[in-house]
Amino acid sequence: MTVNFFTTTFGILTRTLKLGFGLVPLLGFVIQLHARDTYYSLLNLALFWRPRRPGMVIAQGKPGFGGMWPEYIAPSASDSRSPCPGLNALANHGILPRDGKKLTYKQMSQAIQHAFNLSPALGDQLTGSAYLLDQGRGWINLHDLNTLNIVQHDASFTRPDIAFCPDQSYPHAELVDRLLKASSNGTELSLEDWAYFSGLRRAECKASNGQYSMTYSFIHKFFGSGNAALLYSLFGGRVNDLEIFLKEERFPDGWEPRNREAFGHTIIQAQKTSLEIEFNINENQELRPGDELLDQRKPNYVAVGKLISV
Ligand code: HEM
Repeated sequence: MTVNFFTTTFGILTRTLKLGFGLVPLLGFVIQLHARDTYYSLLNLALFWRPRRPGMVIAQGKPGFGGMWPEYIAPSASDSRSPCPGLNALANHGILPRDGKKLTYKQMSQAIQHAFNLSPALGDQLTGSAYLLDQGRGWINLHDLNTLNIVQHDASFTRPDIAFCPDQSYPHAELVDRLLKASSNGTELSLEDWAYFSGLRRAECKASNGQYSMTYSFIHKFFGSGNAALLYSLFGGRVNDLEIFLKEERFPDGWEPRNREAFGHTIIQAQKTSLEIEFNINENQELRPGDELLDQRKPNYVAVGKLISV
């Protein structure tokens, strides 16, 4: 093989073309998502006086209708699980395959739309983040989502950073307890509480993790705020429900989404709440009495569940 000016120029050209061709479908995906989202947002607006009735938030015939969820079975060591409580809970209830393997995008998007009352556009957008891990297969195992800085990032609410916890499949009870304790009124986590706890986590992870990688990544900070926004809107920030959902990755008995939009929670709504949280996060904030930044290098956290293999 020869390496010279012409082969290098050829390499640059082919890669540039490849990038260009790769961006076209991505742009198309983003445009169609937002067009559909605008459509669902307008329908929600038109029907704002007729939100789904309590007890009917999940469509009849779908798992979780009327708060009746399929049986919860905690994952076994051979099951594949992810850093995402939402997807893990769906697998733990058998709404997604219980082994968490070979999940297609359609399967994931439909499951999250129905279980969390999301608009089809938001369901597809959240699912779309997994395409980056697909490698042309058309499916993922839940454990694939562990990959750092694709979607999974540092300073999460329920898992220590991957530098200290290589397997992000299970929640850590101690971290969840700290999150829930951030509720100012003891029953709900408000927008202020989410911004406060996010700031606390970012500050302590930055201080104790030499491999901390969120500082200059707005997109991963935005993912973090996006997760907070989902828990705020879908669970109404309710501490009792979140304790079960985040620690056991299980739907509380009788639970249904608190958001009752006729056509589901939209991308625009989720983005608005995410930005409200993100732009109020201050990593240098004064801590509330009794709070401290924990050193992740010390074994402060107790993992719930067992280590898994895949
Ligand atoms: C197919 C769609 C989805 C994918 C691919 C996905 C993927 C992920 C990934 C990779 C993470 C790890 C981020 C981190 O490091 O903190 C995560 C976290 C999270 N996901 Fe999902 N997710 C999806 C849908 C959902 C839904 C519908 C919910 C609704 C409740 C949800 C709630 C969360 C929450 C609350 C976290 C934060 C956990 C933490 O900070 O410890 N996700 N998700």
